[in-house]
Formats: sequence, C-alpha cells, structure tokens
Amino acid sequence: MSKIDDLFAFLSIPSVSAVAEYAKDVERCADFLVEKLSSLGFDAKKHMTDIHPIVVAHSPKVEGAPTVLVYGHYDVMPVDPVSEWKSDPFKPEIRDGRVYARGASDDKGEIMAHILGAEEVIKEDGKLPLNMIFLLEGEEERGSESLFKFVQDPAVQKDLACDVIVVSDTGMAAEDIPSFSYGLKGLCCFELKVSGPAMDLHSGIFGGAVANPITTLAEMIAGTHDENNHVTVEGFYDGVQEIADWERESWRRVPGMADAELAELTGVPELRTEKGFTGAECVYARPTFELNGISGGYEGEGSKTVIPTHAIAKMSCRLVPGQDPEAILDKVEAHFRKVCPPSVRMEFTRQHGGDAYISDPNSNFGKAAQQALEMTFGNKPVLVREGGSIPIIAEISKVLGKDALFLGLDLPDARIHSPNENMRVAIFEKGIEMAKNMIRLMAKA
Ligand code: BES
Ligand code: ZN
Repeated sequence: MSKIDDLFAFLSIPSVSAVAEYAKDVERCADFLVEKLSSLGFDAKKHMTDIHPIVVAHSPKVEGAPTVLVYGHYDVMPVDPVSEWKSDPFKPEIRDGRVYARGASDDKGEIMAHILGAEEVIKEDGKLPLNMIFLLEGEEERGSESLFKFVQDPAVQKDLACDVIVVSDTGMAAEDIPSFSYGLKGLCCFELKVSGPAMDLHSGIFGGAVANPITTLAEMIAGTHDENNHVTVEGFYDGVQEIADWERESWRRVPGMADAELAELTGVPELRTEKGFTGAECVYARPTFELNGISGGYEGEGSKTVIPTHAIAKMSCRLVPGQDPEAILDKVEAHFRKVCPPSVRMEFTRQHGGDAYISDPNSNFGKAAQQALEMTFGNKPVLVREGGSIPIIAEISKVLGKDALFLGLDLPDARIHSPNENMRVAIFEKGIEMAKNMIRLMAKA
C-alpha cells in the first residue's frame, strides 16, 4: 500500500467516539492500528475498556537507547452539519492538493505521519534507533475517561515508561513555518439550568408577574464578564502566572496571529480581547469563560408568546497552568448561586475537564524536536502555547514523570471539528519526514 492508501484506509473508518451507533467502527479502527503496527514489527495490543479500546504498541527493544512515547487519538468528532460537506466525510477525497475527510488533520493524519515515519526508518536503516511506544486512544474527543483510568494502574505505568512524550495533535502556524508548542490549556465543562414555572405559561396572562427563565439566565451569564472582558467570578485568576517577556516577544512574530490577521481569519469585524492583552496572548496564555450553547423556549417557525419553564446554557472554561479545574468549578458554581435570584431555581452540572500543561521547550528532547521541525520545514519553529486542550496529557505526563512535546501539523485552515476538515498532502508528506527526523535526532538526545 502507498502512504496515501494507508491514510485513506484509516480515514474511511467512521470512528466517531461520541455517538453510540459508531462503537463497532471505533473498535474496527483500533483493530486497523493494531494490524498496521504489528506489520512493522511492533508488539501491538488492543485494550478493551468500558467505552472505546486503547491501543498500545511497543517497538522491538533497543538496549541503551531512549524511549519515545507517541500519543494520539484515533477517534474523531461528529460530522454534523453533514450537508455542509462537499464530499462524504468518511470517503476521503483529494481536491486542490488537500485530503478532505473527518480526522484528516485531527488526529488521524498526524498519527499516520508518525507510523509511516517509523516504517520508513525501519525500511531505510533495517531497524529503529530507539524504543518507540504508540499510545493511541479512542476517546479524546469526548474527554478520555477510559485512558484516565487506564494510566492509574502501576503495571500500565511500567509498560508505558519512557523518556519523553511526543504529541502531534496541535496546530501549525503556516505551511512552511512549523510550530513547536510547549503548553496546552486546561478545560472544565459545565451546564447551568434555570427553571421557573411548572409549565410553559401564556406570556399575557402571567407576564410581568413571573420571572422569565431565559431572561434570568441571560442576566446571570452577562454578569460573568466586565466591561474589560475580565471574568468576574471571584478567585478566577488566582494562581494564574504572568506571561514571560520572551513569550510576548516570540508570540508577536507568529504568522497569522496579529490581531488584524486573527479578525480576518475568523471573519469578525474586530477582536474583543481581555483588556491589556493581544489576541495571541489571550489564546495562548489567558484563561477564558465561554458560552458554547444556549437553549430554551420556543425556537420553531413564527412566534409563540410563552414564558418557558426553563433555559439551559452549556459553558466551558479554558484554563492555564496554576488553575485547578475542580476549584474553578467550585468558584463558578458559587458565583451563579450568589447571583441567582429567588424567583427561579438553578441546577449546576459538572462535566468533563482536565489540567493545563506546560513543559520546558529547551530540554534535550525539546531541542531535538525543534531541530527536527527546522530540518523538515526549512524554517525555525515558532514557540507557542496552544489555546486548545488535550486533557489527558497533563495526567500522562504526571504519572509517567516525563515532559510532553507538541509537534503539530494542523494548519489554521484545516477546519478541524468543522465541515470539510482537511490536510494538505504536502503537509502529510512533510509530517512523515518530520517523524523520521525526530526519531533519528531523539535517538541521540
Ligand atoms: N486536537 C485537538 C486539540 C488542539 C487543536 C489543540 C488545535 C491545539 C490546536 C483536540 O482533539 C481537541 O479538540 N480537544 C478538545 C478537548 C476535548 C476534551 C473535547 C478541545 O480542545 O476542545
Ligand atoms: Zn485532536
């Protein structure tokens, strides 16, 4: 099979982790990885869990050489709205030099680049110069519940013992400018339900006498930010570290991340950052409080004059090092309880999350990773932190006691999580080269 055939076969399996009807496909995707890695001489196993399988694969032992653990996720986000896709999300297609499919960038293209990089080194040199472990999960896009449990087992920790963790599940600045990331944001997700009357009410018969749950929810939400776009939740910023001068300086030079460029890329009339910070600084290093969805009342055609029984908002906070997701949830819940008026009832539901992560970009392995990126793309990588989250990384790094490094290949126009997700074929090929360079450089780090 050619390299692109391997990628196409991988992308053709609809491994949507969030939707139960795809469970068999998710398992088939794990089987595909076990088979591919076994064919390269890896000792590859599928570990069943309560939700989706975890794949662990070890290369043949090379005594005295370092061990690199490559983490990735083979599950993908749901595809809706499917009508927005120009081709079937699970029938990969190349148009204008890009592979279009769900998972093309996040994270199947990136995983396959590492697998094929290892395959080419084995073909060219007869064997790998170091020890490699692939740790590939099927639940990242839904919170990694099974992997959180899996890595608590001391036997698993022993099996995954390594010198460094490498992750390609993050962004890349531009086609010829690689990014080397040394941090991820943490996350906590939650839902707030505001309930009022026992049944939908006629807004003429009862309006003005009874609090409207949508209005009340909107007021509660509007109060979470002040006029400077600071979050008003008491203690929200406790423990948040200052951005270092070298980081500010480095981030000013990241292509595409100037305020005007960010506005253009996202299609907004202008940015609305936290006062005192640039867009890049907010994305990389400031905690945020986001509304992800809001519902309640009549949303159908025409109008309907009701006071609805309830309204719901789905929210999440992106966190930075120094903030604890559980403590933030406590503070956010306390904030809402304080501002919730007696005319309604509120329910606060905690969902999944994980810690932020930061590592030293200039460790020996960090330097080798930066060198691999420069060799591959012909330009020095920009040093950034990610605004996105991979909640399991801080946990894996903690239990294994090793740093994680991020060599991302997702371009800003890769449309991850969105219709028409894609990866440029040229980036996929560079990704394979990057993986080869990384293997050879890390063997000597
Ligand atoms: N690959 C992304 C994370 C990412 C993307 C980091 C781009 C940096 C740049 C990952 O698959 C993802 O989407 N994570 C989720 C968290 C999850 C718990 C839903 C996220 O960040 O929203
Ligand atoms: Zn991802």
